[in-house]
Amino acid sequence: MYILGLTTMGESAAALLRDGEIVACVEEERFSRKKHHIGFPYQSVRYCLREAGIGIDAVDHVAHYWKPWVLGHRIGHTLGVALKGLRLFEARARRGSQQVRGHYLPMFYMPLKVRHEFGGGQFRFHYVDHHVSHAASTFYLSPFDQAAILTVDGAGESTTVLFAHGRGRTIEVLRHIKLPHSLGQFYSAVTNFLGFDMFAGDEYKVMGMAGWGEPTLYDRLARDVVVRDGPGSFKLDITFLDHHLAKHRQYGERATRLFGAPRGPDDEVVQRHYDVAASVQKVFEETLFHLLRWLFEQTGTRNLCMAGGCALNSLANGKIVAQTPFENLFFQPSAHDAGGALGSALYVHHAVLSAQRNGTVMRHAYWGPGFTEAECRAAAEAAHLAVERLDDGVLERNLAARLADGAIVGWFQGRMEWGPRALGHRSFLADPRRADMKETINRKIKLREPFRPFAPSMLAEASERYFGRSHEAPFMITVFPVLEQRKHEIPAVVHVDGTARPQLVDRTVSPRYWRLIKEFENLTGVPVLLNTSFNVQEPIVCTPEDAIKTFLATEVDYLVMENLVVTRERMKP
Ligand SMILES: [Fe+2]
Repeated sequence: MYILGLTTMGESAAALLRDGEIVACVEEERFSRKKHHIGFPYQSVRYCLREAGIGIDAVDHVAHYWKPWVLGHRIGHTLGVALKGLRLFEARARRGSQQVRGHYLPMFYMPLKVRHEFGGGQFRFHYVDHHVSHAASTFYLSPFDQAAILTVDGAGESTTVLFAHGRGRTIEVLRHIKLPHSLGQFYSAVTNFLGFDMFAGDEYKVMGMAGWGEPTLYDRLARDVVVRDGPGSFKLDITFLDHHLAKHRQYGERATRLFGAPRGPDDEVVQRHYDVAASVQKVFEETLFHLLRWLFEQTGTRNLCMAGGCALNSLANGKIVAQTPFENLFFQPSAHDAGGALGSALYVHHAVLSAQRNGTVMRHAYWGPGFTEAECRAAAEAAHLAVERLDDGVLERNLAARLADGAIVGWFQGRMEWGPRALGHRSFLADPRRADMKETINRKIKLREPFRPFAPSMLAEASERYFGRSHEAPFMITVFPVLEQRKHEIPAVVHVDGTARPQLVDRTVSPRYWRLIKEFENLTGVPVLLNTSFNVQEPIVCTPEDAIKTFLATEVDYLVMENLVVTRERMKP
């Protein structure tokens, strides 16, 4: 039985299940080459069907990550704001009708659209609540039979936080927090205030900045803006957000009164900006822990599953075990809205069709398109680049030596990652022992802000050595403090605040990647590589052609695709 899941607005994506097992999941941005693609995921659906070798007629159910008719609360909130002034009312009404025409109405005829586009099909169509989709995306793929579930984002239909209790195949919703009280919108507003693009996932930049600042404004924010007003609850002062809906602006007057002048995109970053980031990060974390403590009291379980865009806040995630009673955490790599495609499909399988859980745990993120060696070779030859083939074992040894010599390597292997992180299938790799590697990468590849850290991929066996305890962290979604005595070994991947956001690489899950890091350890004594995503200002590369285009646009030393080492040398005629 096949279930297709869809995310159709921002971060659009498709996922396909066969008898409850994942066949494929992918984000549309990787095909369209537009970051955070907005719109129907045509190419993603086509890819999922191709991966399974089926047509739409074989699909039994289609699940959609949003219920378009749940508008009541949103309209009420919008009207409440809009009634404060005619200009505001007009702005809201205009924006509201755009959204209804652009997004909500098309959702109602989504079943017709799928049939029309993909040539028929007898599937049943299901609309699944947005936060329930988030909850399903993590709980049903977790190792837990029972877990507390918290989903937090900007907003779904109207919910911004969902508290739930997962048991077996059921997800019992305990409580919602609704608009306008949104931790995600609060964080996005500050991202925008600091001169970044809140629609481009720039929240990571604020997280990176937080490590350089002091939370000097925390007390005022916690007292006046994000107020914890009772167990498991908070209120957001809505004047902190911009309700005139000015283009490219999300922060309101309250933000400028509190923080001073906003930063323009090209302005220098100064200490005041770092302090704003640190203060906002702290208020985000304290509020999150406050919600989690209530959730623990309600559920009594020490297992926690999280999803929603705010679950990508890796700094907060790393502190949950120390700050709350939860001990065992699970995240799915696409915690943001793309994950709704997978979650809605899983929800239909378990909750609507009452299928038993089959013990599937998501241990890796490699659910996207993969390419054969012949396809990789053809792409390199089409670009007239010289190619050398190395056998397994030789390949890893050879590349480890080049990395230890300071080379930067584009590493293109197997199926593409699901979720915003490159996890050793579409990555640039480098030597983490070199303190100057950050500047080298910024010079040769990515023009990115100097305050942002790079992350390490390390052998799972090395967790204790660097963090003092073993962790399960396959998805780079959690930040941990690095042991003081180990920081000097890997300076290029330790942030200014002494933390790192590791991918712990399991030998059985990613054998080739594990072998490469192991060979690097054999040469250098350090079981760690610097890993950053294979892209420059674009979505992460998907095809061999994307990889070659990006390789040629950078000064990366080698490109490795499957067993092929591609250099900048041109082919002899
Ligand atoms: Fe969401």
